[in-house]
Amino acid sequence: MRLSPKPVTVNTLRHMKSEAQKITCLTAYDAGFAHVLDEAGIDVVLVGDSLGMVIQGHDTTIPVTMDDMLYHTRCVARGLDRALLMADMPFMSYTDPDVALLNAGKLLQEGGAHMVKLEGNSRQADVVSRLSQEGIPVCAHLGLRPQFVHKLGGYRMQGTDGPSAESMRRDASVLVDAGADLLLLECVPASLSEEITRDVPLPVIGIGAGPGCDGQILVLQDILGITPGRTPGFAKNFLTGQQGIPDAVQAYVLAVRDGTFPSGS
Ligand code: KIV
Repeated sequence: MRLSPKPVTVNTLRHMKSEAQKITCLTAYDAGFAHVLDEAGIDVVLVGDSLGMVIQGHDTTIPVTMDDMLYHTRCVARGLDRALLMADMPFMSYTDPDVALLNAGKLLQEGGAHMVKLEGNSRQADVVSRLSQEGIPVCAHLGLRPQFVHKLGGYRMQGTDGPSAESMRRDASVLVDAGADLLLLECVPASLSEEITRDVPLPVIGIGAGPGCDGQILVLQDILGITPGRTPGFAKNFLTGQQGIPDAVQAYVLAVRDGTFPSGS
């Protein structure tokens, strides 16, 4: 008989930070790949709204709806035994605390998610606080927030000058105080993400944010070299030289755990 593995929880992630054990995360959008990730020992599986780009073929994540997120979250939930399942709150689904509570509640109740992620700065503190008070774990996504692409005028590094770095430090601290359980930093200079990771009591996951975070996340298609369009420069194809997809995922897990991905350069 195969015993079920011990599930990853928010406490597991905090413990891993305290023990300086790297947290491994990847995106998945269906049960089959979710199972492959789970077997490889991925700690957190994200149903990202990146599905708008890598599954649906849109140019941005903006068209993704709550129905899309619920469908893919349910699929992924069926493929997991161990990993913590995090689901993205799509564009316009968390415009105020009441709307956010309704939608985040659906992702947990109907989708089977264990945590929701929203692209936030200190302006979303009231949303994070409301979800947290109702028992919904929240990951706050700082730095490059793809749902803001039209406001930002493109996808680029964030926090690259003194004032923007300072406001990101402040946002991180406000969101921690509001009750976030996890931070995610996207496209942030390595020195800034290292500083934020050191200063906050929560685990911090990075993507394009250097090696100093408590863990790393990438989009599954990027590590398999099948991203439609341009692959981000910080990603790496882990399928190269491997026998198949399970080995590629395993290679990613090992590289994050032993600190060889990402490299410091
Ligand atoms: O939507 C997504 O897949 C994400 C990751 C890129 C972190 O937010």
